[in-house]
Amino acid sequence: MKIALACDHGGVNLKEAIKKHLIGLGHEVVDFGVNSSESVDYPDYALKAATSVANKETECGILVCGTGIGIGIAANKVRGIRCATVGDTFSARMTKAHNNANMIALGERVTGLGLGLDIVDAYLNSEFEGGRHQTRIDKMMDIEKNHL
Ligand code: RB5
Repeated sequence: MKIALACDHGGVNLKEAIKKHLIGLGHEVVDFGVNSSESVDYPDYALKAATSVANKETECGILVCGTGIGIGIAANKVRGIRCATVGDTFSARMTKAHNNANMIALGERVTGLGLGLDIVDAYLNSEFEGGRHQTRIDKMMDIEKNHL
């Protein structure tokens, strides 16, 4: 898969570990930064990765900040993005299966590297179940259409 990655200064180490892991699995990674611990504003990097997913230049995206919350909220402001902040493998699996999330966000200050990589695997190895979940997604996307 072609996967977008981005982080702020609070997520560089986990982002780098995820990048290495994904490349090792044979995925193509588009890294939108950052690559240093110098303080930056997470919306700037959420926007770059989310835009590439929304424009279908990448198939899905993985974001990291300190908590995974700010960068996830910012990504969800881009039309067409469904980004879930996840800190466990069950949620990672379910957000693909039920929400067809096209991005996930993790928090490096919350989640260790080992669990972080398991979360990524759980998300990427899950399938959207469609059916009643598609109806609910359609309703979510209608909200986006009418309110954003
Ligand atoms: C940066 O200090 C921190 O606020 C950011 O990484 C993230 O946790 C925000 O939600």
